[in-house]
Amino acid sequence: MSKSVLIIDFGSQYTHLIGRKIRELGVYAEIYPPKYLNNVTNILNHSVLILSGGPDSVLNKKAPKIDIPLDQIPIPILGICYGFQYISKEFDGVIEKSNQREYGKTIIKISNCDLFKNTNSEQQVWMSHGDSLTKIPKGFKILAKTKNKIPAAIYKKNIYAIQFHCEVTHSEFGNQILKNFLFDICNLKENWKNNDLHQTIGRYLRINVKEKKPNIVCAVSGGVDSTVLAFAISKYMKLDNVHFIFVNNGLLRKYDIKNIKSVFKSFNLKLNIINAEHIFLKKLKNVTDPELKRKIIGGLFIEVFSKYIRKLSQKDFYLAQGTLYTDIIESRSYHGGKSVTIKSHHNVGGLPKDLKFDVIEPFKELFKDEVRRLGLFYKLDQRFVNRHPFPGPGLGIRCIGKVNRQRLDTLREIDEIFINFLIEKDLYNKSWQAFAVLLPVKSVGVMGDERTYEETCVLRCINSVDGMTADVTEIDIETLSEVATHIINRVPRVNKVLYDITSKPPSTIEWE
Ligand code: XMP
Repeated sequence: MSKSVLIIDFGSQYTHLIGRKIRELGVYAEIYPPKYLNNVTNILNHSVLILSGGPDSVLNKKAPKIDIPLDQIPIPILGICYGFQYISKEFDGVIEKSNQREYGKTIIKISNCDLFKNTNSEQQVWMSHGDSLTKIPKGFKILAKTKNKIPAAIYKKNIYAIQFHCEVTHSEFGNQILKNFLFDICNLKENWKNNDLHQTIGRYLRINVKEKKPNIVCAVSGGVDSTVLAFAISKYMKLDNVHFIFVNNGLLRKYDIKNIKSVFKSFNLKLNIINAEHIFLKKLKNVTDPELKRKIIGGLFIEVFSKYIRKLSQKDFYLAQGTLYTDIIESRSYHGGKSVTIKSHHNVGGLPKDLKFDVIEPFKELFKDEVRRLGLFYKLDQRFVNRHPFPGPGLGIRCIGKVNRQRLDTLREIDEIFINFLIEKDLYNKSWQAFAVLLPVKSVGVMGDERTYEETCVLRCINSVDGMTADVTEIDIETLSEVATHIINRVPRVNKVLYDITSKPPSTIEWE
């Protein structure tokens, strides 16, 4: 097998995007923490070294570093942001704290060179740094500068460093720059195809699951990730002791159960459906606090799930989860500290200690669209694979205020009308996520000659790449009025429809 690109993760939120962009260019890349290079010989397994960005300042004594001096590394190096400053410092450049953090879109002027081949002489890049290079390191040449004359790219022999993030889409020629570096400067050849994702998952399962007939419990939520995971497992594992479990918590959309049953049936896979609606609704009765709702739903899910596993009387098992890279990134921090909890995300963590299990998360390095591609590779129905994300706590966090069967039914109807409407108008696949929220706010209306006094629903439709930031999908007022009329005419107990026009940040995508 040809050697891979090595990405050393200094803790940037974008490190996995570097890996992903390189994979998209057809080159296999692996991400490791800095300590990977404590073993010097590991460098021999790789063709190129990329040093990622990171939240630290290289001026900080405790800032992350690698053990090998860079001038002893025999392969080409590209430093990005923190990596840029790390390289500069190592070769005696001067990095200083700036008064102002440089954050966001910046224009750079480039010089003619291989790194910037086929890009514009002035181009937009994405910066996110506090320190700046004030004296360039010995023997290095400047390849690009910002309008304020701050070096944005430098190089010496086979060491390149850029201050901006070429891996994010806001860097206009980011892909081209990576391409130039990998293929022109490092002379790499393509060695990886997108459908190798399937093999990567296979490799993960082979390494992490040693038994021939392992006991695997896979919790299926009805969403894309866990369903594609179930299919990946079914391709690689003997299914004798594999259990696909689906918990009906009463917080699902109108046709969720029907849809998931039909997907599993069409592939002849057995799905165990546990009906726990009454338990969930009983515990949620009169609960209105968003975090408490999330905790109750998460806790009950674990309870129902553990009971099922105990009944299987299998002591040791693997718990398979469809966790994606983006699911963990917001709560991850480079130094292992905890970042602020905005919302308690629901997953199958926190199972009782007397259940002995290992967690397997074959998708934890992947992004949503990669999982979608894998789903299509497994021949899952395109409509299913392209469904919008749906949160674990389901309609429980979209029914603002009290959660009960009647309000959930109302919300289910509204959601169904809204989503079908978007599909009909060819807007569903153009947006990243769309849904309805029910508010416990009543207003006076008039229908026919009757006075009404009913609740309010909110429609939310957003564009996003990974759910970490989001913009509002612009839908014209006529189209919005049309769907509002459909909803009011067909759904009792609501008489007002609002459209949420807030981006994330400052909002979040879900309301609770
Ligand atoms: P927020 O509301 O945090 O949502 O901006 C970002 C994305 O995550 C989804 N979401 C969840 N997904 N369990 C999930 O599996 C959860 O608890 C959860 N909360 C939010 C949300 O739908 C959006 O796609």
